[in-house]
Amino acid sequence: MTTNIAVLVSGRGSNLQSIIDSIESQNIRDAKISVVISDVKNAFALERACRHGIDAIFIDPRSFVDKKAYEQEVLKILGQYDIGLILLAGYMRIVGREVIEAYRNKIINIHPALLPSFKGLHAQKQAFDYGVRISGCTVHFVDEGMDTGPIIIQKCVPVLEGDTPDTLAARILEQEHQIFPEAVKLFVEGKLKVEGRVVIRT
Ligand code: GAR
Repeated sequence: MTTNIAVLVSGRGSNLQSIIDSIESQNIRDAKISVVISDVKNAFALERACRHGIDAIFIDPRSFVDKKAYEQEVLKILGQYDIGLILLAGYMRIVGREVIEAYRNKIINIHPALLPSFKGLHAQKQAFDYGVRISGCTVHFVDEGMDTGPIIIQKCVPVLEGDTPDTLAARILEQEHQIFPEAVKLFVEGKLKVEGRVVIRT
């Protein structure tokens, strides 16, 4: 059975592209990106979706009275596409309780640090400024906290002499593009089970 995927984005969409490519090359089978939703009008991710014939929708959070109303609209669209998996691919908003409850253990986020360190925004710079020798990236299920959900895959990336926050971020991004599709593939193949806050590979 095909899993219909919704990808929520806010920006450039290179992680979205990695999922598109993995599906088109049949590395991930039995999955379809049905819709890409952006909270930013000119996000390049929307352009990427269009180029691949994927429905691309901008929802302007400012045109709703509050976050709840905005997310009701998101839920409405997710319902229209019979979504079985939601990916947060550079989506710079905290997902609200109602969406999380409606899609429990069906929302996956990519984060550019080794959680539980360096949650939130600019994680690569946070890690760089802290002076860690090893950073990396994390793919995890989304729960009610910020970057706190059960971890699916992590990848280490060393901080090298002469690195800047930007060079480190670029090296982390390369690994994001590996582990995000890998996690999606495991999910679609039904190989991930969540027990408490631990993800078991079946
Ligand atoms: C990625 O590095 C992703 O891990 C990060 O934003 C970037 C989006 O790039 N996400 C977060 O920081 C979420 N807190 P992309 O638009 O090219 O995929």
